[in-house]
Amino acid sequence: MSRRTKLYEGKAKILYEGPEPGTIIQYFKDDATAFNAEKKGTINGKGVINNRISEHVFTRLAHIGIPTHFIRRLNMREQLIRQVDIIPLEVVVRNVAAGSISKRLGIEEGEPLPHTLIEYYYKDDALGDPLVSEEHIACFNWASNDEMHDISSMAIRINDFMCGMFAAIDIRLVDFKLEFGRLYDGDFSRVILADEISPDGCRLWDMTTGEKLDKDRFRRDLGGEEEAYREVARRLGLLNAEDNGPGEVFDLSHARSRLRGPPPLKK
Ligand code: TMP
Repeated sequence: MSRRTKLYEGKAKILYEGPEPGTIIQYFKDDATAFNAEKKGTINGKGVINNRISEHVFTRLAHIGIPTHFIRRLNMREQLIRQVDIIPLEVVVRNVAAGSISKRLGIEEGEPLPHTLIEYYYKDDALGDPLVSEEHIACFNWASNDEMHDISSMAIRINDFMCGMFAAIDIRLVDFKLEFGRLYDGDFSRVILADEISPDGCRLWDMTTGEKLDKDRFRRDLGGEEEAYREVARRLGLLNAEDNGPGEVFDLSHARSRLRGPPPLKK
């Protein structure tokens, strides 16, 4: 394999220079961290599952008109994405109280919120990603008013879409985190959805049993994180019930596509 230039290594992903200018290869690791990397571990097969889930969600969001950085999946752990300048905000959408909002405001976990909340956290590990207001964002020029308008309206549309998508597979979308980036076209830039959407950055509860199907299993030492991530992928139709591990997802899909013939040509 030819040597590639590593551009950035984060906690769960590595970014490599892409094959063409303006593209990047996003590699999904099995590494898991929590509490600003105070807790470190591995979730076997997580990178494979998250690559696949994120591809699925981003593709479906593109179908409803959300612009995203996703171009195509390259292999089990990598996807080709558009290069953007990441806006230094973690955009958290909450439907139900859990995690930090429960702690901060003393709201019991599982309490539905009177309406959907959007929160912004300033992306800075050294500061522990502090909660900030739109006033801070404007004051320090982290994003313009127009960009914030686009970000909040996309976040609401993404939430509406994802609530329905997960409800259809008996999963409650409690909350999730998004990141956005600027895509430049000459002097102009527009905001597009970036990063990933996976059980690493979502709270997903089984609607019937309340079982947690996300990274809280790791954060809270509940165990069964590999099975939980696989269960989400399986319900989304990305993995068969009889699959034993993430490695088989793709073998089976290749086998199926061989049986069915080539995929339809792109429009
Ligand atoms: P929180 O309740 O800890 O603020 O988390 C809200 C949501 O954001 C939850 O679904 C997990 C996700 N999240 C991340 O993806 N990265 C982070 O660093 C944090 C703190 C939360």
